[in-house]
Amino acid sequence: MERLKDKVVVVTGAARGIGSALAKAFGTEGAKVVVTDINTTAETVDAIKSVGGQALGVTMDVTSNDDIAAMVRAAEEAFGPIECLLNNAGLFANIRLKPFWELSEDEWDLVMRVNVRGGFQVTKGVLPSMRRRGRGKIVNISSGTVFHGGVGHMHYVTSKGGVIGMTRSMARELGGQNITVNCVAPGLTESDGTRENPDLHVARAPTIANRSIKRDMLPDDLIGAITFLMTSDSDFITGQMINVDGGRYMY
Ligand SMILES: NC(=O)c1ccc[n+]([C@@H]2O[C@H](COP(=O)([O-])OP(=O)(O)OC[C@H]3O[C@@H](n4cnc5c(N)ncnc54)[C@H](O)[C@@H]3O)[C@@H](O)[C@H]2O)c1
Repeated sequence: MERLKDKVVVVTGAARGIGSALAKAFGTEGAKVVVTDINTTAETVDAIKSVGGQALGVTMDVTSNDDIAAMVRAAEEAFGPIECLLNNAGLFANIRLKPFWELSEDEWDLVMRVNVRGGFQVTKGVLPSMRRRGRGKIVNISSGTVFHGGVGHMHYVTSKGGVIGMTRSMARELGGQNITVNCVAPGLTESDGTRENPDLHVARAPTIANRSIKRDMLPDDLIGAITFLMTSDSDFITGQMINVDGGRYMY
């Protein structure tokens, strides 16, 4: 199936983990994928091209307006105006857990800067391109930690609550411009980063015990919901938050 045939889709934080899995899936669905990350995106780009997909790798820090502007220029030159944006880049997998009273202001600011301000900056930078395209689909990545008040990374949980608020405000302000904005809240997902973090490894068994579907969640479990939000099947859905967590939370 080619549900995203010829759509120009930007994915942030797509060098590894969830972003890489989604970028590859979009490539399989026929999208022209702009694979961005602060680190090298070669593995993701090569994987998309190796199965006949179209991909452009761009090194981009989501907190740099210069990087974002350069990415938009490169994307338009290669593929034309941008239609879809997945704001996935975030600081999570490398965070070691500790009580909030031991968090420094610098740690707090860095997580807020990347996880909340980054999504705002990339969206703002991509908007003129979406307007040139005449339509747009934006998906932001929140987190299930917001619903149980994750312990030991209060700056992260707060940032992901911010992503839900930002999604709703963006949806209201862009509703008249043929652009939808939604967010997806994944449960604890076995990604490259979470496998490396011993704190998150410990959380695996209790998380699975609290799910309706009692198994690990993998990045590929997010493909269906996020692809749906990128296609015209979701054209009358905006400002929403979809839990993809194996039925841990039911709102
Ligand atoms: N893995 C989980 O359990 C889980 C659960 C809920 C939500 N999430 C969210 O999903 C997203 C991806 O998580 P993941 O597990 O794949 O993490 P990850 O650490 O494996 O990947 C994050 C990617 O973002 C990139 N990145 C970091 N800072 C950046 C910046 N300033 N600019 C551009 N790119 C940057 C990293 O280089 C990395 O490739 C994050 O937003 C995370 O908060 C993850």
